[in-house]
Amino acid sequence: MHVTMVKKEFADGSTCQKCVQAEEQLRRRGLWEKVDRVVLAREIDPTSEGMRLAAEHGVTLAPFFLVESEGSLRVYTSVLKLINEVWPAGPSAPTEAPQGSVLSASDVQALQAQLAGSEPMGIVRTALERFGRDCAIAFSGAEDVALIDMAQKSGLPFRVVTLDTGRLHAETYRFLDRVRTHFGIELEVFFPDAVRVEELVRKKGLFSFYNDGHEECCRIRKVGPLARALDGRRSWMTGQRRDQSPTRVDVPIIQQDLGRAGPDGPLIKWNPLAEWSQAEVWQYIRDNQVPYNALHDAGYISIGCEPCTRPPRPGEHERAGRWWWEESTQRECGLHVRK
Ligand code: ADX
Ligand code: SF4
Repeated sequence: MHVTMVKKEFADGSTCQKCVQAEEQLRRRGLWEKVDRVVLAREIDPTSEGMRLAAEHGVTLAPFFLVESEGSLRVYTSVLKLINEVWPAGPSAPTEAPQGSVLSASDVQALQAQLAGSEPMGIVRTALERFGRDCAIAFSGAEDVALIDMAQKSGLPFRVVTLDTGRLHAETYRFLDRVRTHFGIELEVFFPDAVRVEELVRKKGLFSFYNDGHEECCRIRKVGPLARALDGRRSWMTGQRRDQSPTRVDVPIIQQDLGRAGPDGPLIKWNPLAEWSQAEVWQYIRDNQVPYNALHDAGYISIGCEPCTRPPRPGEHERAGRWWWEESTQRECGLHVRK
């Protein structure tokens, strides 16, 4: 296979921004080395190689890619399509989990000891080397996007799942889509069961959680869809941290998720950021120019559904704005079973 990228150079000598972003996207996924040649389409020079190729293939967009393989030639004007069709499994990574990825309780204990104190990047790599696309990153917020960045930098295959409860902020929907395009990933979005939501709101209205607690609504809008997202899988990954709340002080780096059965026993759950502080997560986001939810600029820290999230007040803990009308020890939505 031979891949040529055609980049546009404007009359003033600058390179088109979409071309720069496409190159960054390929670099982030470890795929840049797979581009064999880069040629320029110079706006001021119709005889430049890129301009000639654009005319020859009837392309008016930049950048574009020519992929020659076994005597055939394909033209891609979308870097996402190129990535998904030409290198669906990443640079050189396995598409299936390697053999021997079943982990017993004692394997998990040994790994927990071995990984304690490790950088999250190394933990993400260990998880993906073992499980690949059989490990689903559960993505909704700041922590999780750092995990996606690490997963992509590892060059190993992975999946990203998100639960659309139907009650997220408009900013969160924008953020979810921005993450999808920034990383060039397929975001697997899971919705709640429509019949169960209809029954709930018909019976109790749209804000029942303020009266009788969040469990019922979270069970329908979050826990049920997560069960579907993980059905048949052996592993998942979350952005939980120990310093997030009193309910998370003992979150391990790796655990058997005893609340969820997979094909080989309990699912293996990875929490690579367990030992990181909120400040370390944000340092990573800044250093790596990772996108974040615009609500953070408005004072929000931990972000869930719109009716159940508010920014914490000065001096309050980062999760104080989640289900703020309930006891702090009850503020878990049921996605995470304590070990
Ligand atoms: S939770 O109580 O809603 O679970 P939090 O927002 O702190 O708390 O999320 C903890 C982790 O659960 C996240 O890092 C993410 O991995 C997962 N998670 C939470 N909400 C979602 C969601 N809507 N979609 C996917 N994963 C989620
Ligand atoms: Fe329902 Fe609130 Fe739970 Fe969202 S966080 S699922 S709106 S109770």
